Amino acid sequence: MKIAVIQGPNLNMLGVREQHIYGQLKLEEIHQHMKAIAEQNGVELEFFQSNLEGEIVDKIQECLGDVDGIIINPAAYSHTSIAIRDALAGVGLPAIEVHLSNISAREEFRKKTITGEVCIGVISGLGLHSYGLALVGMIQIINEIRAMQEQQAQAEQKA
Ligand code: DQA
Repeated sequence: MKIAVIQGPNLNMLGVREQHIYGQLKLEEIHQHMKAIAEQNGVELEFFQSNLEGEIVDKIQECLGDVDGIIINPAAYSHTSIAIRDALAGVGLPAIEVHLSNISAREEFRKKTITGEVCIGVISGLGLHSYGLALVGMIQIINEIRAMQEQQAQAEQKA
């Protein structure tokens, strides 16, 4: 099982930017936390961060046929990017959106996530744990999809 972790603009600045909102952890430390969970579950992770909308769109497209699911924090693009939304919808892979901060409790313009609307769900406000929980949830969802596909294949064989 392989899962892509896609990080949007300014997340490379974690640990420096607005610590009162995003905490002190660096992006690499969040990735280490996810790696530990992935190892326990025999899952491969691929990490990607970009400050550029088009590069994130390219990465999502490259996920098709390569990974089983996507965990994404589109950061500010969550509130603005129809292109990232369309890319997520276009590849049709199971995706979970995460946010470190609770976007429902912040400025009005952060309350709507147009990318989150095409994801299975959004985990927001739990800091590091937003990522950990997204990973645990994604592993379970991929296992459920696989089990369903197997059942369908068996039913087709019998028919
Ligand atoms: C964020 C929330 C966004 O509104 C913001 O633009 C970010 C980070 C979060 O993880 O809390 O850059 O995605």
